Amino acid sequence: MSFLSAALDRVKPSATIAVTDKARELKAAGRNVIGLGSGEPDFDTPANIKLAAIHAIEAGKTKYTAVDGIPELKQAIIAKFKRENSLDYKPNQIIVGTGGKQVLYNALVATLNPGDEVIIPAPYWVSYPEMVALAGGESVPVVCTAEFGFKLQPQALEAAITPKTKWVILNSPSNPTGAAYSHAELKALTDVLVRHPHVWVMTDDMYEHLVYDDFVFTTPAQIEPKLFDRTLTVNGVSKAYCMTGWRIGYAGGPAQLVKAMTTIQSQSTSNPSSIAQWAAVEALNGPQDFIPTHNKVFKERRDLVVSMLNQANGIDCPRPEGAFYVYPSCAGTIGKTAPSGNVIGNDQDFVTELLEAEGVAVVQGSAFGLGPAFRISYATKTADLEEACKRIQRFCGNLK
Ligand SMILES: Cc1ncc(COP(=O)(O)O)c(C=O)c1O
Repeated sequence: MSFLSAALDRVKPSATIAVTDKARELKAAGRNVIGLGSGEPDFDTPANIKLAAIHAIEAGKTKYTAVDGIPELKQAIIAKFKRENSLDYKPNQIIVGTGGKQVLYNALVATLNPGDEVIIPAPYWVSYPEMVALAGGESVPVVCTAEFGFKLQPQALEAAITPKTKWVILNSPSNPTGAAYSHAELKALTDVLVRHPHVWVMTDDMYEHLVYDDFVFTTPAQIEPKLFDRTLTVNGVSKAYCMTGWRIGYAGGPAQLVKAMTTIQSQSTSNPSSIAQWAAVEALNGPQDFIPTHNKVFKERRDLVVSMLNQANGIDCPRPEGAFYVYPSCAGTIGKTAPSGNVIGNDQDFVTELLEAEGVAVVQGSAFGLGPAFRISYATKTADLEEACKRIQRFCGNLK
C-alpha cells in the first residue's frame, strides 16, 4: 500500500506549471525557448508598494497578525469593494489569505461535503476542479464554446443545477480565455441564480482591472443585490498590482462563511505574510495610475497576438475582452504531420511538437477543459511575443 494519501489519486499536477518547468529545463539546456505558459505580469511591482514593505520590515511589523488579516488591510479592502464595486462589507465579512488561491481553497474546504456539486464553466482555471476534488466535492464542468465567446449561457447554467449543487464558480475576465461578461450577460446568469436559493456564487475577480476597449467590469453581488448573502467575491493583488510572489488574496462574503474559512486558515497556515499585507495596503490605497499604463501595453500585445495568430494556417484566435490570455483553436492543424514526422492528433500533440520544432511553450486547451485549443499568456515582452507568433506561423506553415 502506498504511504501517500488516497487524496492524491483525485488531483493532477498543474499543467501550466508543468509547461513553465519544461520551458525552463530546455532553456537551461541551451535551447532558445520562449515561454508563453506562465500567468504573471512581466512588469515589476511598483516602487511605492515595495517601499511600504521595506518600511513594514524596518518598523518591526514582522510578527504574527490576526489570522484573517490586519485591520488596516481589511479597511483598504472594504474601501476598494465600495469604491470599485459598490459593495458594502464589514470587517467580519472580509478574509485575507496567502493568494487568491488559498482563499478559494479555504472556501471549498469550509463548505463541501462528499457528493456536493460545484458548477465550473469550461474552459476553466486549472485549479478549480482539482481544489473541488481535494475538498471532497464533485465538479460539474459546463462546456462554453467559442461560438458564445467561451461564456456560460443561462440555459446551460439552469440545466446544470441539481439539488446537490452548492456553488457555481464564475471567473471574469477568465483564465484561460480572457473572456469577460458584460453587465447584461452577467445579469442573465444572476437571474437564473435568484431562482435557485440553494446555489451559492463564488466569483473569482482576480483579473478585474485587466480589461480593454472600454469594457466595464461588474461582479455578481453588485449586479444582483439579492445574491449578496450567498456570494463570495474573491479578488487579490497578484495580477493588477504585479504582486504574484507576495501572495495576498482576499474575499468578501457572508460572515458565517468567512468565519468558517478563517477557522480552516487558522489551523493550516495562519495569517498571510505580515510584510506582504502592509504592501497590499499600499497597493489598494496608493496611486492606481500604473494600471491604465500597463493595460495600454497589454491591449497592444493582445491585438498583435490575435492578428498574427489569425495569419497562421489552421489557427483561429478570438479577440477576448480582458486578462492577459488568448485561447486560439488549433482544430485546423489536427491530422497534419509535424516536422518530426509525428501526426498531430490533438492539442497536446500540437503543443509538444511546437515546443520541439520552434521552442515556443504554450499550454494545451485540454488542460482547461476545452480542446483542441491552446492558451497563450501575453504577459511577456512584446518583442518575444512577436518572435513567438512568427515561429507559430512558421510551424503551422510547415505542417503537411
Ligand atoms: C483565475 C485565477 N484565479 C486565481 C488565481 C490565483 O492568484 P493568486 O493566488 O496569485 O492570488 C489565478 C492565478 O493564476 C488565476 O488565474
